[in-house]
Amino acid sequence: KLNNKDVTLGDGEIKGTRVKVYGRILNFRAQKSATFLDLKDGYGVLQCVLQAGDLTKCYDALMFAQETALVLYGELRKVPPAQKAPDNRELHVDYFKVLGSAPSDLDAISNKVSRQQDPWDAQMLDNRHLVLRGENASAVMKLREAVEMAFIDTYREMEFRKVSPPAMVQTQVEGGSTLFKYDYYGEEAYLTQSSQLYLETVIQSLGNVWCLEKSFRAERSLTRRHLSEYSHVEAELDFIEFDDLLEHLEEIISLVVDKILNNPVSAAYVKLLNPDFQKPSRPFMRMKYADAIEWLNKQDPPILNEEGNLHVFGDDIAEAAERRMTDIINRPIFLTHFPVEIKAFYMKKDPNDLRVTESVDVLMPGVGEIVGGSMRMDDYDELIEAYKKNGIGHEPYYWYTDVRKYGSSPHGGYGLGLERFLAWMANRHTVRETCLYPRFMGRCKP
Ligand code: 4AD
Ligand code: MG
Repeated sequence: KLNNKDVTLGDGEIKGTRVKVYGRILNFRAQKSATFLDLKDGYGVLQCVLQAGDLTKCYDALMFAQETALVLYGELRKVPPAQKAPDNRELHVDYFKVLGSAPSDLDAISNKVSRQQDPWDAQMLDNRHLVLRGENASAVMKLREAVEMAFIDTYREMEFRKVSPPAMVQTQVEGGSTLFKYDYYGEEAYLTQSSQLYLETVIQSLGNVWCLEKSFRAERSLTRRHLSEYSHVEAELDFIEFDDLLEHLEEIISLVVDKILNNPVSAAYVKLLNPDFQKPSRPFMRMKYADAIEWLNKQDPPILNEEGNLHVFGDDIAEAAERRMTDIINRPIFLTHFPVEIKAFYMKKDPNDLRVTESVDVLMPGVGEIVGGSMRMDDYDELIEAYKKNGIGHEPYYWYTDVRKYGSSPHGGYGLGLERFLAWMANRHTVRETCLYPRFMGRCKP
């Protein structure tokens, strides 16, 4: 691996170690005296020097192009920092072989990539497999892996147990309009919208639980932050009150960010992608839905609802309004206590104001909502009533209803969109840039 530091380096006086390395060409410069290659693999970059002569005059050397795969042999040497070689070292090549050549048309694509390509561009999306070869696109994927690992470690430290609920289901969670339906041996079934209901059924035996699974939404609009398939970090906490849920959310987000920034490798990806990123300061701002409505109306000019009118209690806060509010306030916001009518059937009502729910959206600058969570209705009769009010037949939910029958408890949880979390941390224009191969309306390839 090109980031391997376990090699003795020569410096001209002392002989270095003769090594064999594999990699692909990131870029190269053929000069009169020598050809310089920046060789890359998934781990690092190594500068290689081929002295002019037999090495640079052969057919293979004439075929060098971006992404050409090579094996090279040579002596690894220390170079002065002034030369700005990666890790201050250089490979003096004495033999090499091309393993896989590459047509030079790739340069056009990856050049476009490194100049911050348009993530909506169909050509870019068709060539996603090549776009991923670029430095920025691959840094986002490396950061994504680091974030997933940070969640795993943080939940472990908090003693949350990881579970893996099914993706093939026969119940909806977040409304029928975004269900992906399919034929399950002759029966109607769906791709899951959220693992929440399943998480709620196992806190009794496993304690606090979490999962990192795919969720699916048949979203019929093209926005910066909606995907058809996304990675969903979800957790469910037993024996808590609403304030405990908010505190936990602040804690998990802060700890995950700490883990990323405290590790020099992952911190470097953040630095490359979002040099201005700052860890959010605690406590996060808390704002009730009713106050947000007022805040929007009080702006000059007012930020209007989807019909172009002033917001009234009960209105959905649309994506654009929500993002403008978050961008103006420019720090994380816990937006709480949404009206019952605009939230999911399972959310617990606020005992002090039955018009609203004990619910929270976490909003981040640049993205808006990255988390949706709530306390859950824990009373049996109330839940049966809620199914009715929402026009949901309760039979398929018998296992979920039973949570309220066998030792019900005050509990709550949340779902965090991993792609949106990354769009926030890595300052990406859309969540499409944070997936390996994004899926959204009109796109199911490559
Ligand atoms: O707000 P949502 O719909 O809440 C739920 O699904 C709850 N059942 C979660 C729970 O309490 N366990 O979705 C949660 C989060 C959103 O805040 C957003 O970050 C992300 O999931 N999300 C999407 N991300 C990308 N594309 C979409 N179409 C998304 N829909 C939701
Ligand atoms: Mg939501």
